Amino acid sequence: MCGIVGFTGQKPCVDILIESLRRLEYRGYDSAGIAVFENGTIRTAKAKGKINEGLVPLINRGADDLHTTDFSHQTCGIGHTRWATHGEPSDVNSHPIGNGRVCIVHNGIIENYREIKEFLIGAGYSFESETDTETVVKLLDYYYDGDPIEAIIKVCAEIKGAYALGILFRGFPDTIYAVKKESPLIVGKGNDEIPGNFIASDVAAIMEYTKDYYLLEAGEIAIIRPDSVNFLDIHRRPLHKELRTVDWDISAAKKGGYEHFMLKEIHEQPSVLASSMAVRIKNGLPDFSECGLTREKINSYSRFFIVGCGSAMHAGIVGKNLLEGLGRVPVTVDIASEWRYNDPLLDEHDLCIVISQSGETADTLAALKLAKERGADTLAVVNVVGSTIARAADMVIYMSAGPEISVCSTKAYAVQVEMMYLIAFAVTLAKGKITEEKCREYIAKLQKLPELVSQLLEDKTDYQYAASHIMNAESLLYIGRGLDYALSMEGSLKLKEISYIHSESYAAGELKHGTISLITEDTPVIAVATQTALIDKTVSNIKEVKARGAKVVLVTRETQKIDEKAYDIRVNLPEAADIFMPIITCVPLQLIAYYTAVQRGTDVDMPRNLAKSVTVE
Ligand code: G6P
Repeated sequence: MCGIVGFTGQKPCVDILIESLRRLEYRGYDSAGIAVFENGTIRTAKAKGKINEGLVPLINRGADDLHTTDFSHQTCGIGHTRWATHGEPSDVNSHPIGNGRVCIVHNGIIENYREIKEFLIGAGYSFESETDTETVVKLLDYYYDGDPIEAIIKVCAEIKGAYALGILFRGFPDTIYAVKKESPLIVGKGNDEIPGNFIASDVAAIMEYTKDYYLLEAGEIAIIRPDSVNFLDIHRRPLHKELRTVDWDISAAKKGGYEHFMLKEIHEQPSVLASSMAVRIKNGLPDFSECGLTREKINSYSRFFIVGCGSAMHAGIVGKNLLEGLGRVPVTVDIASEWRYNDPLLDEHDLCIVISQSGETADTLAALKLAKERGADTLAVVNVVGSTIARAADMVIYMSAGPEISVCSTKAYAVQVEMMYLIAFAVTLAKGKITEEKCREYIAKLQKLPELVSQLLEDKTDYQYAASHIMNAESLLYIGRGLDYALSMEGSLKLKEISYIHSESYAAGELKHGTISLITEDTPVIAVATQTALIDKTVSNIKEVKARGAKVVLVTRETQKIDEKAYDIRVNLPEAADIFMPIITCVPLQLIAYYTAVQRGTDVDMPRNLAKSVTVE
């Protein structure tokens, strides 16, 4: 969480920093700030709240920490957008944090900041903020005697935890220093149009300006000047790094006429579902040999573990259902933050699949490391190329869903589920549970899903109507059985994330063991019923809640005959085989959540208290 940027070049930097920060706001928006060199002096402007609410008005007023500053002409600076961990969201806890000699922006958590703080207080330093970051500033200052690299190396030897740091040192007014461990950081290389160089938490932040970047690895130091970029290892030895180029277009990171990124990303689903599967299918069969997941390897695994957080874990539940149902292999699926501390039973005969859109989620990364320690093979299903999880795993399947900006995951979830199908088919085939011919049939059906998803996006009236019936609720329930229960979990998460209505998902058959006592006529129920073998059972449970006054929104197949008295609003889904219904079902659930949030006037793309990339545990 938190996003950091920096630019030094031949152009004014403030607009570049603000624009880049806007693209990183998905990483946190509790506060934002910049620090720039003004005639050799470091000037800082920072404020609580989103960029447009706090920082931009401050800059427009020409206000900085101490003086009045015209922010139009400086050419070297750093910026930050914050998701608060240590210290509440406030002006004083905002980054950049500095003391006149050293100024930094930080993404991560310094675990041993208390000891460092005590040491520094003993050395005569005083502290203003409640942040862990301030200890890094003061420790840099303590060691800084005119040689920035020496100070960075000494500080890195002492601090523990995760960090990506952008640093300004007085005395070097055109230079940004950067160093990282765990938290992501890239160095962007400018061109004739934008003479200068950048740092950023991800490439999307600076894609407006350049597509060329270097990926900084743990323990590497970058020295960024207007006309050069140099890298050193932690022992001061020069490094040669490979220049990479982003292969997607900046339009992918813009709203493109949609009111929100979330709506745009929902609409991208047909095309990303089609393109993401295309590269994983060869000769009508799933093919992961490129990443090393061969038939022989699959055959060597006796058990499968799937771990992730949030929507990624929900996609994993669908994966478990498919792998067990089709491949007849034992699968455990768990939330990464629980699994990593539960002393899981896995060994060298097992495969641990971690799912993560960002590839940076701290708990998922820790789960991956634990699986490796226990000798299991690890397979990461990740969207962001070159992310920490992608690099740490033995094998990587890139989702190729393009950048997902809205905090609430939609297209990434759909593609994660799609990858679960492909993995499940590959495992089922390798384990000899289906023939190649049957596998080709499954793949052909999977290939039809993007078209069905497209159909669902043509007319939004039903979703808007359903939203208008739940928007005033204080609490509601999502229910379903089997795969429908897995989808209920995802639907419920979407709704609470962005509409702030309390919502729970529940296995429909389990309701009567306690939760049904919550049902009143003010508690709407969203019932998902797509699984043929379970529909009658779910309808019985729906009638139980209906009899207790609940308003029911039923999400089901268009051809399914269901007693009209069992529901109040019906949302129809196009026909597909049972196992393929999750990818279809997720779309109306996303849109019901979206329109509920829009009707309630919440900040859809940046819901309160959340961040897209959760790099703290
Ligand atoms: C955050 C996001 C969720 C996401 C989860 C896991 O909580 O708000 O939308 O599902 O992290 O993220 P990952 O990047 O690991 O998929």
